[in-house]
Amino acid sequence: MSTQTLSHAVPALLPKSVGISCGGCRKQFTGLATRCACGGMTETTYRPAAALGSGASAGFFEQFWRVLPLRSMEGTPAGLSLSSPTLRADRLRSVVGGPELWLKDEGRLPTHSTKARVGALIFPFLRQYGVREFVVSSTGNTSTAIAWMARQYPDMRVHIFVGRDFAHRLRHVASGNVSIHVTQGNFVAAGQVAQGFAARNGLFWEAGFFNPARRDGLKTAFIEAALAIGVAPAVYVQAVSSAMGVVGTAKGAQELPYFGLPAAQPRLVCVQQATCAPMVSAWRDDSAVIRPTDKVDHPSGIAEAILRGDPSNAYPIVYRLVRDSGGTFTAVTPDDIRHAQALLARHAGVYACEAGAAALAGYAQLVASGWLRGQDGPVLVNITGGQRDVLRSC
Ligand SMILES: Cc1ncc(COP(=O)(O)O)c(C=O)c1O
Ligand SMILES: [Zn+2]
Repeated sequence: MSTQTLSHAVPALLPKSVGISCGGCRKQFTGLATRCACGGMTETTYRPAAALGSGASAGFFEQFWRVLPLRSMEGTPAGLSLSSPTLRADRLRSVVGGPELWLKDEGRLPTHSTKARVGALIFPFLRQYGVREFVVSSTGNTSTAIAWMARQYPDMRVHIFVGRDFAHRLRHVASGNVSIHVTQGNFVAAGQVAQGFAARNGLFWEAGFFNPARRDGLKTAFIEAALAIGVAPAVYVQAVSSAMGVVGTAKGAQELPYFGLPAAQPRLVCVQQATCAPMVSAWRDDSAVIRPTDKVDHPSGIAEAILRGDPSNAYPIVYRLVRDSGGTFTAVTPDDIRHAQALLARHAGVYACEAGAAALAGYAQLVASGWLRGQDGPVLVNITGGQRDVLRSC
């Protein structure tokens, strides 16, 4: 058998070498590490040779094998279908204006949000580092995605912490290895209780933004879109709470050569809602950190998925990345979001949740202000979540 035949027959299953290092001080870790002592976030790394998977598109793990922080495919669900439509939105663009416009309709994923990609990756990632039981907290979509995937990993156990104010957002599928803990108050408070629970019980705290596997999962939306468009988008727009999807996108953009496209760093645009926009508040004053006046103690707003009033830990990292990319942060009003939701449904057939629609509202605002001009495309607006109970056809 020739080597060529061999490399077509088995490449997706080739094990690869995976590491973790600090994006700030470059320290290399031997085991699982989320946040470095220097304050930097950790990143997963893979040996270049190991990245030579086939890219065969049988499923999520096969398709993105080259850039997933997994040593082997052992135990991953084969052929897991996790791709969402990438739509060229000419009709919408004729209404809103601006450059060539593409939408990523992540609401079409199994748990109706882009976080399904996190749910898929987090179990095999943690398991390869020996973690069998872990603790997580989110505004709802990541937890839902994790609960959805838990059934595939009966030898693992997950504790999901959710603030009472957010409990209605959790759509978990009953699974014996998922425990739900409802705590008082909002999402930030739930995260603190969750961390205490993990520490007391010697369990792994999943670390949210600082878990590099979350970003590796999310980046696949961008890579998938770039492959569908045929070039890397020049601008990437997303609604953010800690902006891990945006940070993941920056990494995914550098990994496009693994898929035959040139690497290109898009201008990164982070959108928040005006009633809870701590990052926008800091950015407007060109502050590299979240100041006390930027924080929102009791966040409220219709885009519940992005109600994080205190992103102090993530923001300094996101700030530098967005600034260096030539991007920006912007805030949109509830009316802007509702209008964007209606436009998406009417002109693109996309049924977005409020956070998802906020991204399009941000795009429209940047077009109206002249920040985005006709020649600035292609722009990818990630509609990160969908309406859960919508009737799509009749
Ligand atoms: C639908 C949706 N959009 C956007 C976000 C914000 O994403 P990030 O965590 O990348 O800031 C979330 C986070 O939960 C979400 O669920
Ligand atoms: Zn460091």
